[in-house]
Formats: sequence, C-alpha cells, structure tokens
Amino acid sequence: MGTPDLRIGVVGATGAVGTVTLQLLAERGFENVRAFASSRSAGKTVVYGDRELAVEEATPEAFASGNLDLCFFSVGTEASLELVPAAAAGGAVCIDKSDAFRLTEGVPLVVAGVNDEVLNGDEIVANPNCSAIQLACVLKPLSDAAGLAGVRLATYQSMSGAGDAGIERLRATQPMEADLAMDWDLEGDEFSEESKLRAETRKILGLPDVPIQATCVRVPVLVGHSQATWVETVEPLSPDEASELLAAAPHVRLAEFPTPKEAAGEDDVLVARIRQDLTDRRGLALWSVCDNLRKGAALNAVQIAEALLERRLLPA
Ligand SMILES: NC(=O)c1ccc[n+]([C@@H]2O[C@H](COP(=O)([O-])OP(=O)(O)OC[C@H]3O[C@@H](n4cnc5c(N)ncnc54)[C@H](OP(=O)(O)O)[C@@H]3O)[C@@H](O)[C@H]2O)c1
Repeated sequence: MGTPDLRIGVVGATGAVGTVTLQLLAERGFENVRAFASSRSAGKTVVYGDRELAVEEATPEAFASGNLDLCFFSVGTEASLELVPAAAAGGAVCIDKSDAFRLTEGVPLVVAGVNDEVLNGDEIVANPNCSAIQLACVLKPLSDAAGLAGVRLATYQSMSGAGDAGIERLRATQPMEADLAMDWDLEGDEFSEESKLRAETRKILGLPDVPIQATCVRVPVLVGHSQATWVETVEPLSPDEASELLAAAPHVRLAEFPTPKEAAGEDDVLVARIRQDLTDRRGLALWSVCDNLRKGAALNAVQIAEALLERRLLPA
C-alpha cells in the first residue's frame, strides 16, 4: 500500500517505462504523484489510476525547490545527467533507469531481491539495464550456492527495450519485415549492450572478475526479453539442485517453456529448461524470459522504493 504523503515525481512519464511506472504506483495506492517529461509534452495529460495528471516540463529548476521526496527517472542518459543531480540537490531520492550513473563509484546499482542490502540512504540509486536485471535474478542463487566460473548468453530482446520509438518501429511494419537494426553503439567488437551486461552484472553480484560473454540481438517482439544462458559453476551443481534454488529465489518463477508473450505483464523472471551443458562438466544450460518494462525497468525501480520505505530510508 502506498504512503499518501510521500511526494513522488515520475520523470519520463510519457515514455514506455514511465507509463508502466505510473501504472504500478497507482496500483499500489501512492497518491501524491506528479508527472514530468520534456517540453514537447508539457501540458499533455497521462493516465494515473482513474484520474489524469498534467505533464510538467522537467527542468533542473523544477526539481530544485525541495518539493519532492522521491523521483523515478526514465528519460535517457543525457537528460538524466542534467536532471538527476538537480533533483538530488533539491532533496529527492532519485531512482534512475538510464546508464548515466550505473557504474559510478558510490552509486548503488540495485536489483530488488538480489542486492538491495546495499541501499544505504543514497541520494541516487541506479536501476540496471533490463537484461542485466534478468540475468542477475537467475545467477544470484546459483552463484551463492556454487560460485560462478563463467557465464555465456545469447539475448533475444524485444523492441520495447528501445522505448516508444522501438514499439512504433515494430507496429509500423509487418513483423517478418521488421527493421531489426541493432540500436546499440558498437564499441570495438562489442555492442554497448553486451559490455553493459557484463559490467553491470559484475557490479550487482559483487564479482568484478567473473567472465561474462554475451551476444545481444533485437527480435520482432513487442515486450519480453529472452535469454539462453550457459552457466559454469565453481562447485558441481546438478540441474535438479539448480531448479530447487531457482524455484526458491526472489522474483524468479519456474515455467515449462515460457515465451515473451507469457512473460509480458508478469512480475517474475520466468526460468525453464534447466539442464546439463554437455560441453562443460560443471555447466548448466537454461532459458529465461522477463517483461523488460516491468522487472527489467519500472517494477524493479518501484521495488527499490518499497525496500527504501521498509528500511525507513524515505519519509513515511
Ligand atoms: N524500455 C526498456 O525496456 C528499458 C529498460 C531499462 C531501462 N530503460 C531506460 O529507461 C529510459 C527511458 O526509456 P523508455 O524506454 O521509457 O524511453 P521512451 O519511451 O523513449 O521515453 C522517454 C521519456 O523520456 C522523456 N524525455 C526525453 N528527453 C527528455 C528531456 N530532455 N527532459 C525530460 N524528459 C525527457 C520523454 O518525454 P517526451 O515524451 O516529452 O519526449 C519520454 O517521457 C532510458 O534511459 C532507457 O535506457 C529502458
């Protein structure tokens, strides 16, 4: 249940992640919520439960006056770099979904249910990349039980991962003809998405050297990222033991053969096909699917806020 007096700002309220953030906050009964976006959207309205909120322009000045306790940012790197420090200086705890602060020393990078014990009254909390959240939820129980020697994965990422522009791109074409150009920067021989996945997963799990190799692609799917993952553990771990660990892990649910359609709208990471990797004595192969807009973004941020409230790190 939401805290009526907590003054919340949702910045990026007109976007793919912001829309889901508003839905989740309304479902939880938070009442004191304001919506912000760029000057393009100022004056428009967004749906909040059974009412509408007027969209305000997000400027550093709008956040400087100490009138918000908590801000969810889903505006992209450049805008976060400008707006988040202003809101933090204005006294709001900022949960940022861009990559602006994720690897900044001293800024916690948090997956609720995986490493929220690192929360400690910080002004800025970073929400990881959607694929890193999904991967960390799966790896954490296996890592705690048997150690991680290495991880390889292939991702099949939905178009909503590229925001409203990605959704529009898919809607405007026949799926078989969808423009699947990868929207990530190429850094050397890797996409930025692949290096983020490695660096962020290492930071979340507190394993700075664990080898992680990913190949990321977009697929013509609206919502839901899939991952085929091969995990090499330090100690032996059977598929049955791994299944038991994953069945008991927070925000993970075992499923038969989940598709993105099955995962869309679900809160948990769905995991299936946990089996021996026949190429590796200490290897497991598995499949997972996650709603990238929920646990991959908005839901994880709301769960971080709930963890902050539980620990009295936000005004109740
Ligand atoms: N989509 C995902 O699955 C996902 C997952 C994890 C993290 N993220 C991250 O979340 C952020 C937002 O993603 P999205 O998918 O929601 O993108 P999106 O659909 O393109 O929405 C972007 C939002 O940011 C606002 N915005 C853009 N520039 C702004 C500025 N200068 N000042 C204020 N508001 C501005 C937009 O407002 P206007 O409507 O006024 O332009 C819109 O509300 C990105 O950093 C992304 O990397 C996304």
